[in-house]
Amino acid sequence: MHMLTDAHNRTINYIRIAVTDRCNLRCNYCMPENMHFMKRAALLTFEEIVRLMQLLSTAGINKIRITGGEPFLRQDLLQLLYKLSALPGIENIAITTNGVLTQSFIPQLQDMGIRHINLSLDTLQEKKFERITHRNEFITVMQTLESLVKHNMQVKINTVVMQQVNTDELLDFAALTQQYPVAVRFIEEMPFNGQGNSFSGIIWNYEKILDTLRTKYTLHKIPDPPYATALNYHIPGHLGSIGVIPAFSRTFCGTCNRIRVTPTGGLKTCLYGQDALNVRDLMRQGMNDADLLLQIQTAIHQRFANGFEAAAHNHHSKMESMSVIGG
Ligand code: GTP
Ligand code: 5AD
Ligand code: SF4
Repeated sequence: MHMLTDAHNRTINYIRIAVTDRCNLRCNYCMPENMHFMKRAALLTFEEIVRLMQLLSTAGINKIRITGGEPFLRQDLLQLLYKLSALPGIENIAITTNGVLTQSFIPQLQDMGIRHINLSLDTLQEKKFERITHRNEFITVMQTLESLVKHNMQVKINTVVMQQVNTDELLDFAALTQQYPVAVRFIEEMPFNGQGNSFSGIIWNYEKILDTLRTKYTLHKIPDPPYATALNYHIPGHLGSIGVIPAFSRTFCGTCNRIRVTPTGGLKTCLYGQDALNVRDLMRQGMNDADLLLQIQTAIHQRFANGFEAAAHNHHSKMESMSVIGG
């Protein structure tokens, strides 16, 4: 039953939960080396996450994306996934991961029916991987990719396009889709870098990315599934697809069907906004399910029609790290 609707007639059926803010990589655009992480006690517990998701599943949420930080750093992730995948009403559980710890869990994910994995990978070159992520894990991540494909998982590769860093590799990434049945999505860099500073704007917008790909490939538009963030294309003869996510130069506000929960229980009704409320605090104060749902419904109802514009006008808005927002 759909019980989560905002004042602009948008129905929410998708929640993204960042289960930890910690990460075993340090991607330049996401967090500094000396990133300050939350204390364990500040994070939503296993029981709190299950309770929240159970409640939301009765209110019309049917898709959960697990993000972070790096979700697989959370010790109880597997048990959590078992619980969430057993919730009636949840049709799809997807995970966004950097692939460092993922490989050994693939059989268990398959057992639970989890098939949708988004893998963050910004370069196909080992040395450059270390420059971007400040960790030497390239070989491991590539093995994870191989393994995911071998196990018939539905893989999307997220590639953040960075001027003078990986724009020379767009064609290499597109070539990857020839043998691999994966969706490579090029993402415009967003100003969520954990440094608290603002961002000068993008040079490599999605049009420039597509133009570059067209210098070598013919791109056939694939019709977009509803609520998609990516514009997707097929290259004749390739097993996979390529896409662009105009994360910065366009917004998805008009059709936005998602809310987010931060590792510490912040409810974000918009990627660009502040936490609308904190569900951890409400649960720890002893609030019952009915009242909790009412609070969430009220927060959703007050959502901006276009949060991106609202944030753009607020020059004082501090740029958080994506590891706290969950992407
Ligand atoms: P699915 O549609 O479930 O495949 O997820 P996704 O593509 O949204 O998820 P993923 O975690 O792989 O995120 C890919 C990129 O899209 C990340 O950089 C996200 O921050 C960005 N993104 C996700 N949702 C939004 C959104 O509502 N607005 C904007 N501007 N970017 C988003
Ligand atoms: N701009 C664009 N994408 C980002 N991600 C993390 N930080 C940023 C940023 N500043 C991406 C990651 C991951 C996804 C959830 O978000 O690469 O794939
Ligand atoms: Fe970790 Fe993802 Fe941030 Fe990279 S972008 S540091 S993999 S959370």
